[in-house]
Amino acid sequence: MLNEKVTKLLNNQVNKEFYSAYLYLYFSNYYVEQGLNGFANWYQIQAQEERDHAMLMMQYLQNNDETVTFEAIDKPSVELTGNLSPLKEGLKHEQYVTSLIHTIYAQAYEVKDFRTMQFLDWFVKEQGEEETNASDLVKKMELFGSDPKSLYMLDQEMGARVYSAPSLTL
Ligand SMILES: [Fe+2]
Repeated sequence: MLNEKVTKLLNNQVNKEFYSAYLYLYFSNYYVEQGLNGFANWYQIQAQEERDHAMLMMQYLQNNDETVTFEAIDKPSVELTGNLSPLKEGLKHEQYVTSLIHTIYAQAYEVKDFRTMQFLDWFVKEQGEEETNASDLVKKMELFGSDPKSLYMLDQEMGARVYSAPSLTL
């Protein structure tokens, strides 16, 4: 069994990861409407990754004989305009998720829950990568997005992303 507060935070994080998947599918749908299928592909794969994160959290709770509790998943409330705003919202969201992971880590640290800290190490690293990726996308769009030819090439690049399963197994 895990610490009660740690368990509650992990359960909450399951919901947040599913929300992230929902948010990124919302971005993906938006880019389909913009005719940018490469960007749509990139966010669809991003959504798959977020679902994987939720599944890992659930598995971890279950491996420790804890109950997985589901809450309603919020409706994505961000307003999207142009081609840049989803990327900016994506970066903001990843920074927020990093803060959530750090909060769980801090709680695990407080109660000397070394097992959860080790489990979360992967997520801490993952969040660093997610923030870098999101920030790179914002920079690329700011640099090249206003030129149609460059935007086309950027869309091709985003369309080449393929899904790969998470490197963490439990
Ligand atoms: Fe995630």
